[in-house]
Amino acid sequence: MAKRIYIFDTTLRDGEQTPGVSLNMQEKLEIARQLEKLGVDCIEAGFPIASDGDFEAVKAIAQNVRKPVIAALARASKQDIDRAWEAIKLAEKPRIHTFLATSDIHMEFKLKMSPEEVKKRAIEAVAYAKSLSPKVEVEFSPEDGTRTRPEFMYEILEGVIDAGADVVNIPDTVGYSTPGEYGEFIAGIKRNVPNIDKAIISLHCHNDLGLAVANSLAGIENGALQVECAINGLGERAGNASLEELAMALKTRKNYYDFETNIVTEQIVRTSNLVSRATGIHIQPNKAIVGANAFAHESGIHQHGVLNNRLTYEIMTPESVGLKKNLMVLGKHSGRHAFEDRLNELGYSDLSKEDINKAFKKFKDLADKKKSISDGDIEAIIAEDIHQIPEAYSLEYMHISCGNNTVGTATVRVKKAEDRIAEEAACGTGPVDAVFKAIQKAIGIEVNLKDYFLKAIGSGVDALGEVTVKVERGNKIFAGNGISTDIIESSAKAFINAINKISYEEQ
Ligand code: KIV
Ligand code: ZN
Repeated sequence: MAKRIYIFDTTLRDGEQTPGVSLNMQEKLEIARQLEKLGVDCIEAGFPIASDGDFEAVKAIAQNVRKPVIAALARASKQDIDRAWEAIKLAEKPRIHTFLATSDIHMEFKLKMSPEEVKKRAIEAVAYAKSLSPKVEVEFSPEDGTRTRPEFMYEILEGVIDAGADVVNIPDTVGYSTPGEYGEFIAGIKRNVPNIDKAIISLHCHNDLGLAVANSLAGIENGALQVECAINGLGERAGNASLEELAMALKTRKNYYDFETNIVTEQIVRTSNLVSRATGIHIQPNKAIVGANAFAHESGIHQHGVLNNRLTYEIMTPESVGLKKNLMVLGKHSGRHAFEDRLNELGYSDLSKEDINKAFKKFKDLADKKKSISDGDIEAIIAEDIHQIPEAYSLEYMHISCGNNTVGTATVRVKKAEDRIAEEAACGTGPVDAVFKAIQKAIGIEVNLKDYFLKAIGSGVDALGEVTVKVERGNKIFAGNGISTDIIESSAKAFINAINKISYEEQ
């Protein structure tokens, strides 16, 4: 029988450490719920000691997402572990993930501790975490594991397993390893740690050399049963191993690996889109599995082959990752029934009546401007409106004037809470700059625009334009999204969405 590999998702912890990413509680909860549908075994929900916001988000996930194990990260100290436990103690299956660096370079220059002190601290941390409850699982990570002297690694793993660690995770923290080397490192741990059978070996690979997925697969081949990864490969610096690539490699090459996961691969695209929208991190078109070109066949020879037999150039089907064929075209004559059916087919069967009403109204407004509504349009409508944070501000009206020999000007009317209206006008280097300035004046806030990205959903002159902006306030970055058939309106909505997130956070 095929061996089962446990998928530990760290999108909400290591993934949130991606430069320029910060997620609010609502977004984290929504992502966690989607990860549950995706079938991950464990969600690392955050690092509770890092901030009150992180603590509250981990707590909310622990209380609301019941199927997977919910892990919280903690350094190897009592204070961190207590905070992590406080956040996850109501989870159905709580796990404390504690870590301490074990490489010579980290021990000497970062921790300023001797190997003996490190070993003692790690063992104490694991024993303390394990003592908190009979139901808690404990995972230990020797940070910078792959640059740790193997003999010291064996010693420390033996100690933490004796102290009660259920999982020992071997991080390639700086993404330095290569597949042969990492696989051999895991095999060495299996051979040399006498009590290794009492714990699960886990993998955690960073992608600095583009080898995170290859290294993880090598680790799995050498006896690890858990793999840590993130949606869209998010994570510190170049990111972590990408969940979707690992899951599809194990599924597509089952004949070679003979391992199984619990991942519902048909939920991959939806999860990837949700994470991309919430984080404001776009997916490169040629990204494996979820890039826009992953299933596109450009050359005539390839197209001809695929038309005759898909297997000529397709090793997995678009449907297997959740890309569905549009079976029925929706347009302005489509009724609520057809719309609801399509929502169900797309996997939105858990929306409330109120959410469906809201989405249906948007759909009708859009159908007045656009001949046919695609699945991508419906997903964008849902993403824009459903499960969003309360809107402190919304766009009521805008008027733009621009041209190559005129100064771009914008007049906006913004609705504030309690139905107060603010109107302002501004000039800018172009229409987008002008509208952003007018919005800031109307709301009475100043932010720095750090990033602006426009993408068409589908094709054709009436395609929806989806804008993602990233704005900076203090030392934090907030992402906002907006959709419309008019790209200046998408821009204004995205900008206001980012400001709404700031206002939500500041409250
Ligand atoms: O990369 C790393 O070492 C980590 C640990 C906390 C597991 O993220
Ligand atoms: Zn990491």
